[in-house]
Amino acid sequence: MDGKIISNYIANQSVHEQYGGVVPELASRAHMQNIVPVVDQALSAAHISRNDLSVIDAIAFTQAPGLIGSLLVGAQFAKSMALALNKPLIGVHHMQAHVLANLIGDNPPSFPFLCLTVSGGHTQIVLAHSPLQLEVIGETIDDAAGEAFDKTAKLLGLPYPGGPLVDLHAKTGNPKAFSFAEPQIPELNFSFSGLKTSVLYFLQKQEPGFIEQHLNDLCASVQYAIVNILIKKIKKAVQQTGIKNICIAGGVSANSGLRSALQETGEKLGWKTYIPVFEYCTDNAAMIAITAHYKFLDQQFIDLDASPSARATW
Ligand SMILES: Nc1ncnc2c1ncn2[C@@H]1O[C@H](COP(=O)(O)OP(=O)(O)O)[C@@H](O)[C@H]1O
Ligand SMILES: [Mg+2]
Repeated sequence: MDGKIISNYIANQSVHEQYGGVVPELASRAHMQNIVPVVDQALSAAHISRNDLSVIDAIAFTQAPGLIGSLLVGAQFAKSMALALNKPLIGVHHMQAHVLANLIGDNPPSFPFLCLTVSGGHTQIVLAHSPLQLEVIGETIDDAAGEAFDKTAKLLGLPYPGGPLVDLHAKTGNPKAFSFAEPQIPELNFSFSGLKTSVLYFLQKQEPGFIEQHLNDLCASVQYAIVNILIKKIKKAVQQTGIKNICIAGGVSANSGLRSALQETGEKLGWKTYIPVFEYCTDNAAMIAITAHYKFLDQQFIDLDASPSARATW
């Protein structure tokens, strides 16, 4: 209970690839199959024997938001463990956990900081006053940044999830090769649905074979457009709040274009930027654990009849 991560295991679900997106029913079934082996692996990596689970202080699980079937599997498993071991139970908010992933490691940001949280389901700017006091000051009004990557990747014929593949192809492409309309959204909010439409109309006007010939340039240009929207809003948030400690979180924070743009902008404008190591960017158990650590210190426990929720405000 010193806030150090001692093991972090992930079971990926390749079953969804053939469907071009996550199929909720298949996700919960895969969770059922994976949960015991994953917990076993995590325990053995942490050198904790199944026969001596008394060293565990508390059991935490993702309570919201997410696919309800998958959340139920995790919640039931965590409750059973808490009951069997007679340990307190901690429910964690997935988006809060993405932000607090930045606190893992030896060089965490000091409070207050701003966090750009960009994943497949969310795009937010969060003002972190303290570990348990987070305020959403901007968010997307339609698609999330990860969805923008995945949906445009699909238009380019790339398999799901397309984000990492767009990143890969973009490395050898020209980001200025094509330009797409930039949304004009007030305040610190975002919009990404127009970009997908703009890419679709652009591709419809081209000759057959265009995508194959220009895949790297298309990926680089799409990535540039998404990163540009994100960086502009974070600049605006810095202007409005005066806070110059900037973090990123969520699956899209693994994007190399976003990582380098944030670092460059930060160096130019005198920000302190923090980017979690790759394994803590996409969904992971360590971010749930670090959030649970702060909730444990604050004695924020929940009862065994608590339910998970697909949608949830902070
Ligand atoms: N290198 C990358 N570049 C762009 N997008 C990425 C990259 N790596 C992951 N993503 C995107 O991150 C999203 C997944 O985010 P994650 O936080 O792991 O899951 P969820 O959205 O389910 O919480 C997907 O949309 C995926 O395409
Ligand atoms: Mg996530």
